[in-house]
Amino acid sequence: MSDDFTRAESAAAFLLSQTPLRPKIGLVLGSGLGSFADDLSSATRIPYASIPSFPRSTAIGHAGQMVIGKAGETPVAAMQGRVHLYEGYSAQEAAFPTRVFARMGIRALILTNAAGGINLEYGQGALVVLTDHINLQGQNPLVGANDDRFGPRFPDMTQAYWKPYREMALEESRKLGKQVFQGVYAALRGPSYETPAEIRYLRTIGADLVGMSTVPEVLAARHMGLKVLAISCVTNMAAGILDQVINHQEVLDTGERVKGDFVALLRAVLPRIAADVESA
Ligand code: HPA
Repeated sequence: MSDDFTRAESAAAFLLSQTPLRPKIGLVLGSGLGSFADDLSSATRIPYASIPSFPRSTAIGHAGQMVIGKAGETPVAAMQGRVHLYEGYSAQEAAFPTRVFARMGIRALILTNAAGGINLEYGQGALVVLTDHINLQGQNPLVGANDDRFGPRFPDMTQAYWKPYREMALEESRKLGKQVFQGVYAALRGPSYETPAEIRYLRTIGADLVGMSTVPEVLAARHMGLKVLAISCVTNMAAGILDQVINHQEVLDTGERVKGDFVALLRAVLPRIAADVESA
């Protein structure tokens, strides 16, 4: 079997053959947050199943397609849905679409996800710009022989979440009159939600949010030198905080409720990130 680099090249060439657009920004739209891609203009929609070597998402609330289109004047490639480790995929497989993005010429990656709120200042529906993460998934997509064509053996993670992009997101949310928080994301493998004791542990070690995605993509993106912005939607307060159980429907419903704010924030930051990648 060919290596990830060759497979990512083939998938990227296939995707670019489907559209005249040449996006420099990639987006991954998480559970309940896929609607941003519904109103891109000049859009081409490509199901994951038709992209060579691409993993297919099985999670409910994930459409499972790549949409390449324009948000205003900015061409973007947006994934409606991702694959997760809890579906049985390896971290390498979960990171493969990020490899493909890079081979398409994408230089900035915007990741979104649904997360449980651990920080008591958050409420259900809060949007949180990630400042850092704690990887508790027990996996890392960079394990194995390093492919120097992607990046170095020991990539730095001190600026995993690009500070200028975080500041842009905070500024734009202020202009929109919407409160946006900042926080540290703890990634677990799932698929069970956490226990209340696990949530107390995560708070103690410095986590503000908990979720089951994003980190494999960030690790692969930084390995290749892509700049990352990640935004979580607090779809529920984490286990044990409120006197109620957590269910996936609630996660999807909250995503649906905040999608207006979420899309407005993405649309406001995109031209600024586009200007940054064009000038680089
Ligand atoms: N825990 C983990 N992942 C999640 C949660 C949660 O509470 N909510 C949405 N994704």
